[in-house]
Amino acid sequence: MSAKINKIGVLTSGGDSPGMNAAIRAVVRTAIYRGLEVFGIMRGYNGMIEDDIYQMNSRSVANIIQRGGTILKTARSKDFYSEEGRKRAYENLQKRGIDGLVVIGGDGSFTGAYKLSREFGIPCTGIPGTIDKDLYGTDFTIGFDTAVNTAVEAIDKIRDTADSHDRLFIVEVMGRHAGYIALHSGIATGAENILMPEVTTTLDEMVASLTELEKRKKLVNLVVVAEGYQPNPDSDLKGANEVVRLVEERLKGFETRVTILGHIQRGGPPTCIDRFIASRMGYHAVQCLIEGRHNVMVGILHDDMHYTPLEIAIREKQKIGDDWLNIVKILAS
Ligand code: F6P
Repeated sequence: MSAKINKIGVLTSGGDSPGMNAAIRAVVRTAIYRGLEVFGIMRGYNGMIEDDIYQMNSRSVANIIQRGGTILKTARSKDFYSEEGRKRAYENLQKRGIDGLVVIGGDGSFTGAYKLSREFGIPCTGIPGTIDKDLYGTDFTIGFDTAVNTAVEAIDKIRDTADSHDRLFIVEVMGRHAGYIALHSGIATGAENILMPEVTTTLDEMVASLTELEKRKKLVNLVVVAEGYQPNPDSDLKGANEVVRLVEERLKGFETRVTILGHIQRGGPPTCIDRFIASRMGYHAVQCLIEGRHNVMVGILHDDMHYTPLEIAIREKQKIGDDWLNIVKILAS
């Protein structure tokens, strides 16, 4: 039986994602309702190292459920990679008697939580907060739905102008290592091709399919590319600019344009789905700490809560099945 937890810390770490505020709100209010004290840790692990930690109450999280970003701010902490940094961070927790942590972020943030729990015995729970949706053990990550809806709205607008000019548009969406935003937004906007880091699609294949569509007088051509897609394995160049350069070398007679959506995908008010899953996960993350289910990432699988040990959540990746590519191909024909 693990020791009773009395004081918890909550932080957001890595890239921000819409819905993180809703998760913070749920963590704070659940913890207080259950009789725990809660501390907000600013700027991810940096605030833990620099002792930028403050006590929160129910009112600290009023009026934030609808706001993008994170009131706790976030960072990708370099200092936390070192043992010395983690020791300093632990001492700051210890000083206040913080004996449990909720970490909202992606796999890098969970790696930090896992190390802290292993080295200092601090129980942690992870909440998946990333627009990339690449985490194993959950159907949802906080922020993905908002990001993908932002991308869809933008691509719909691009389609209008692409159609008016009969142009080939290459649209880059976020995802350094993950193609989920590209896959979902590409399918939802009827893209002719979707290029993702996880899937090897050669540009010759893509050019062949565009030429084939052209023969059939399909004049609007939209290609959605994840920023991490690498068209040429012998070169490190990635993303839409590289794709368009290589396509223009191969395809004459197509007028091409590139749009890079960028960080617009990380902001804005969270969708209902993101607020909803954030609230549910935030509640369960605190329950896990109270009930002794430690060092897990809370997820939702098939509409049930699912708990994945942090070391597995860090190691495994959600995979994009081959089926999806068939769907893309058939629906764009
Ligand atoms: O948070 C995930 C993510 O948005 C990736 O999709 C993207 O590659 C990366 O973060 C960008 O990070 P930064 O804002 O640090 O440039």
